[in-house]
Amino acid sequence: MFEFLEPKPADAILKLIAEHRDDTREEKVDLGVGVYRDAEGNTPVLRTVKKAEHWLVGSQDSKAYLGSRGDAVFCDAIEKLMFGDAAVNDERLSTVQTPGGSGALRVAAELILRASPGATIWVSDPTWNNHVPLLGEAGLNLRSYPYYDDETNDIRFDAMMDALSEAQPGELLLLHGCCHNPTGMDLTRAQWDRVADLVVERELVPFVDFAYQGFGNGFEDDGYGIRLMYERASELIVTQSCSKNFGLYRDRVGALTFVAKDPETAKAVDSQALFVVRTMYSLPPDHGAAVVAHILNDDALRAEWLDELAAMRARLKGMRKLLVEELAKAAPDRDFSHIERTTGMFCYLGISAEQVARLKKERGVYRVGSSRINVCGITERNARYLAESIASVL
Ligand code: LMR
Repeated sequence: MFEFLEPKPADAILKLIAEHRDDTREEKVDLGVGVYRDAEGNTPVLRTVKKAEHWLVGSQDSKAYLGSRGDAVFCDAIEKLMFGDAAVNDERLSTVQTPGGSGALRVAAELILRASPGATIWVSDPTWNNHVPLLGEAGLNLRSYPYYDDETNDIRFDAMMDALSEAQPGELLLLHGCCHNPTGMDLTRAQWDRVADLVVERELVPFVDFAYQGFGNGFEDDGYGIRLMYERASELIVTQSCSKNFGLYRDRVGALTFVAKDPETAKAVDSQALFVVRTMYSLPPDHGAAVVAHILNDDALRAEWLDELAAMRARLKGMRKLLVEELAKAAPDRDFSHIERTTGMFCYLGISAEQVARLKKERGVYRVGSSRINVCGITERNARYLAESIASVL
């Protein structure tokens, strides 16, 4: 039967990992996949993660199954992290631990389709390169709303609101909680407020992908949109990832939270989510979630983790500034100042796919075909080379 299958091209982001690894040029620069890198270009395990892992090795006395929800202590900790301590007593909430944020997206899609066959979800244009395939393959009907203006390097907010005024009651609205991937350009608080009004008026279901909490403007600030939706919308779906903020990429730690209209509905949603998990992969992996739960429930470790996160954030801010300075020297005719208005790992440079390909071939600079760059790949050492490389293809 397999002879009928056509070969599939590799994922545009993931294939860059191998391409960059196999490039033997010393000066090569990796601005591709969204992982954090320190000033040396490494992705180290967080100090607090190491400490929690040591604690786990010493204290864990069983590896018996936990169940389809995963670690309930982790799920409570994630709810508190997103919505504050009172959230764990809110009976409209239900959370399951998932294999990363992508696992959460997929379980959410399955559950949405059980609740509302043929459901439509509105996604930003552009959005993370796996949103459309992942949600589309699951069977959701996708529509897009304008988000980013390549000319002005700003959000097309009026066009976004215009498009969304066509959304029908019960349709889903996918929003990036913070650190928009791929553009790095986030809604302002005033814009979030207007989106919340629209959600209420048009009876939409906000679906917030929250993969970068803590990487934007600070832990609390990054949560503005999600807390607003929690307060205002009658139903809410949130997918959370601990890949970036805990650096647990390959351990696959994520969570899916539903906020239902009332506690009784929440019980049905919760049982359906557990059923979906059981029929898809049965149970999530444990290790990373146990690490996160320990860090979040230990005051000293939690404070230290927030410091680690602040340091990563500060480095990204510094590298944005440095790149803008170097670009101003290397390409004085072009304005790249919008880069300093972006947050999180990514921003758009506004160059063509052909220029991106030339950067890879001629200069060993790896980045996805859209003009997204991962700011984490910039260091004090490579910033000038990078700016000159970009200038060379403009
Ligand atoms: C990214 O956008 O680079 C990350 O979220 C990694 C991935 O899986 O695509």
